[in-house]
Amino acid sequence: MRLSRYFLPVLKENPAEAQIVSHRLMLRAGMIKQSAAGIYSWLPLGLRVLKKIEAIVHEEQQRAGHIPLLMPTMQSADLWRESGRYEDYGEEMLRITDRHGRDMLFGPTNEELITDIFRSHVNSYKDLPLTLYQIQWKFRDEIRPRFGVMRGREFYMKDGYNFDIDRDSAIHAYNRHMVSYLRTYERMGLQAIPMRADSGPIGGEDTHEFLVLADTGESEVFYDSAITDLTLGERAVDYDDRTQCADIVTEWTTPYARTDETHDAALFDGVPEDRRRTSRGIEVGQIFYFGTKYSEPMGATVVNDKGERVPVHMGSHGIGVSRLLGAIIEASHDDKGIIWPEGVTPFHCGIVNLRQGDAATDAACEDLYKALTAAGLDPLYDDRDERAGAKFATMDLIGLPWRITVGPRGLKSGVVELTDRRSGEAEELSPELAVTRLREIYAAHGI
Ligand SMILES: Nc1ncnc2c1ncn2[C@@H]1O[C@H](COP(=O)(O)OP(=O)(O)OP(=O)(O)O)[C@@H](O)[C@H]1O
Ligand SMILES: [Mg+2]
Repeated sequence: MRLSRYFLPVLKENPAEAQIVSHRLMLRAGMIKQSAAGIYSWLPLGLRVLKKIEAIVHEEQQRAGHIPLLMPTMQSADLWRESGRYEDYGEEMLRITDRHGRDMLFGPTNEELITDIFRSHVNSYKDLPLTLYQIQWKFRDEIRPRFGVMRGREFYMKDGYNFDIDRDSAIHAYNRHMVSYLRTYERMGLQAIPMRADSGPIGGEDTHEFLVLADTGESEVFYDSAITDLTLGERAVDYDDRTQCADIVTEWTTPYARTDETHDAALFDGVPEDRRRTSRGIEVGQIFYFGTKYSEPMGATVVNDKGERVPVHMGSHGIGVSRLLGAIIEASHDDKGIIWPEGVTPFHCGIVNLRQGDAATDAACEDLYKALTAAGLDPLYDDRDERAGAKFATMDLIGLPWRITVGPRGLKSGVVELTDRRSGEAEELSPELAVTRLREIYAAHGI
């Protein structure tokens, strides 16, 4: 992409309405525009990151054997009356009446819809296990939408649902979700800690939330610092291997880690004092096992191997896809702007032309642009007729992790400059080597 042809409406001033850094930076970097309280348009740069995050979520879900589908945002109230949640859900549910006077709602979650799909088509234990998921917009009429996309009213969420013949199989699905979520967040450059949590309106017996540590997080969290040393890394995971998945879950759930809702001071006191941490966290996902809570009232049953009709064991599993943009920025920024992790960056590198209009410099930038593109990378070329300072400020603000600076002086000795946004370290090297270096860096991230 050439910046002169792009739509990147950056703001010079700090927007007064933004209370936290991620909201401020997303507005300043021209990623989102509020259209009503808690409802946003995704401008091109924001959309690119949203799509990157979405793609990682899809890949990791499908790697775990889960199957994508897409359900509507608008739902009929009838299904929710069946489960009993139409009354229970309260004011967060946006209720709408259509022209025929029928009660509709904008889905805040989809347990009822998916259970209806399941019961219409699945009849036998032979069709299990089954995990279906979608990435779709949700609406919750939050009383206090704030912090930009972190607590929106309309937000993008991955929601997945497992259907299993018995508790053991459903617990394996739960474990599979925990492992796939750990991998998902790691690929985004995030550490998200699974913490024992409270099940709220979804209900159920077992649930973990995934929290990204950040001062601006809305939850108070208590944990054993040993948990922050754990990484999944390049481990090969066989998602059909119940023992391997269960072992990974044990590894992550043994150190104490709880939110304020389930915090147990006596248990916490058992953690060695030098490892006891109290902090704040952003919830970026949650997994639930709730057994037959929906399948029983809604009649989602299958015939088992003894010929008996039994309700299926279910769980649901969510990732806050749009909230993740805010969480990543909270975890990765400096006073100049965002610092995108390689896994989710909107463009892989910036190209800054220091002397736009100078034939040799322009040509070198064009060549670099073509070489990077041919290498499968997406550069953002700042080809505007602007001062170098302004170009650098824009690149720093929008947070591309790598920048190549091209100027007439360097070109005389055959070099450009490759700068690491995170450390600020710069290296002079030939344009060819700069492309090779970036290719290697991204290859290490599986890109
Ligand atoms: N209003 C919101 N805006 C943006 N993301 C949200 C919002 N509500 C929930 N999410 C995201 O969707 C994920 C799954 O939804 P879940 O039903 O667990 O939310 P929740 O526990 O009600 O969230 P919260 O406690 O933050 O209100 C959450 O982990 C969170 O990342
Ligand atoms: Mg939750």
